[in-house]
Amino acid sequence: MNQPLMSKRPLPNINEKPTYVNHMFAEIAGTYDLMNRLMTFGLDQLWRRELLTLCELPPHGRLLDVGTGTGDIAYQAMQRYPSVQAYGADFTYEMMAAGVGKMPGRVLPFTQADTLHLPYPDNTFDAVVCGFLIRNVVDRPGAFQEQARVTKPGGKVICLETTPPSNTILGPLFQFYFFNIVPLIGQLISRHGEAYSYLPHSTVDFPAPAVLQRIMEESGLRHVFYREYMMGVVAIHVGTKQ
Ligand SMILES: C[S@@+](CC[C@H](N)C(=O)[O-])C[C@H]1O[C@@H](n2cnc3c(N)ncnc32)[C@H](O)[C@@H]1O
Repeated sequence: MNQPLMSKRPLPNINEKPTYVNHMFAEIAGTYDLMNRLMTFGLDQLWRRELLTLCELPPHGRLLDVGTGTGDIAYQAMQRYPSVQAYGADFTYEMMAAGVGKMPGRVLPFTQADTLHLPYPDNTFDAVVCGFLIRNVVDRPGAFQEQARVTKPGGKVICLETTPPSNTILGPLFQFYFFNIVPLIGQLISRHGEAYSYLPHSTVDFPAPAVLQRIMEESGLRHVFYREYMMGVVAIHVGTKQ
């Protein structure tokens, strides 16, 4: 899978997107965690913490982290709730390989899978979460429906994502940071500046929080709400499986 990126364009077309995304994450896997900490000034772990609070996991519950990457959400869940068993699924082998063994004494079972076809029976998990996955997925309703399918009735389906730049005074500031500074840091650290140009472009392209809420509702989730963080740069959407 370590082939060069398919195109020099920051955003691939719909047909190319899954392969493009898969190759891109394979190339940046080794420096992914470091880049996350640097470009968010460490805030990414706080957002994952917020997401986990919203899961309302029961003792001994089961959590699925889809698009798990190097497993940051899943590992944080097992650290915070020792009786919980987390599972990670992602279609990029290299990302999961980079995440193996990050928590001494606990094993995070990783499975290579597409979020549109999860290899688990119906009603398996107490919560299914994803962080920074959905903007990479072409069929977003399909992804939420599949996540809901493997969630137990009453369980939560939760999505942490960046949001499109807002019209507030800070919007242009964040836009400048994402479009100009992040690709530079990405080039320096990962040697794949193009991958970090994809990030701002995919963010601009992403639905606003209220629209994403509707997509989740239309995917069959109930009581959908969202919370925004860092002046609306990221949002966490929460839905409940009926
Ligand atoms: C930005 S990373 C997020 C990783 C992790 N959730 C985190 O919080 O850092 C996005 C991950 O989603 C995965 N991904 C993208 N599209 C996917 C799909 N259709 N099915 C499964 N995984 C996918 C990528 O391989 C990548 O590891």
